[in-house]
Amino acid sequence: MASRLVPSAFRSAPRALRQLQRPQWRAFSVSRPARSDSLFVHRDTPENNPSIPFKFTSQNEQLIEEILSRYPSQYKKAAVMPLLDLGQRQHGFTSISVMNEVARLLEMPPMRVYEVATFYTMYNRNPMGKFHVQICTTTPCMLRNSDAVMKACEDELGIHHGQTTKDGIFTMTEVECLGACANAPMVQINDDFYEDLTYDSTVSLLKALRHAAQATGSPSAAKGEAGVKVPAPGPLSGRKSCEPAGGLTCLTGEPWGNETLRKDGAL
Ligand code: FES
Repeated sequence: MASRLVPSAFRSAPRALRQLQRPQWRAFSVSRPARSDSLFVHRDTPENNPSIPFKFTSQNEQLIEEILSRYPSQYKKAAVMPLLDLGQRQHGFTSISVMNEVARLLEMPPMRVYEVATFYTMYNRNPMGKFHVQICTTTPCMLRNSDAVMKACEDELGIHHGQTTKDGIFTMTEVECLGACANAPMVQINDDFYEDLTYDSTVSLLKALRHAAQATGSPSAAKGEAGVKVPAPGPLSGRKSCEPAGGLTCLTGEPWGNETLRKDGAL
């Protein structure tokens, strides 16, 4: 029996050795994972502690009134998410003072507000750059080279996942699918999607945004003389939307019947 097994063991040994040398795993995300309790726990810092006062602007107070009118008064805590979002937009990030103010307005225990703000990753609980660059690296974007987009951001901004540039203009994060896979690879910058990106188009987009941020408020920018043109959100490849990149592949001829056409030619 042993004599039968030994030759087969010798035969399979080189293959097993080859497999050992090859890495057998691949990380799901390109960037370093943010470990530890930093995602959930608040630590007082000079720019984020409860002694820093926060009040909504009068314009936002009107918006809050409108938001609260959507809920029965005994359920006004249901407005916690839109109010946190409003606070984040006003303050730049969801600080502990923003959370406390929302808890006061909605008559909720502050802990209930902290629970919401720490559960959803859209609430940024640390100071952010003027532009929050969120790079999608989930499979459809990864297959269309989101690695190049990530590299372009790292090269151009000199920062990595979770970091903010020294001038406070950009914060960069790696995120999961943002729902624009048909135009992969893409990034979300603040509220806008920029799609069909390449290394070069990402670099030019970031350069344009930096120029725009630096020129904002200067007299030449006010006159539109800064020479900066930030591309409109959407695909940067020339596509209008998510139509086939190579042109139409179906419905290319005239419809064969006229039963679906209106007489006035509008359809
Ligand atoms: S995978 Fe990137 S938008 Fe869906």
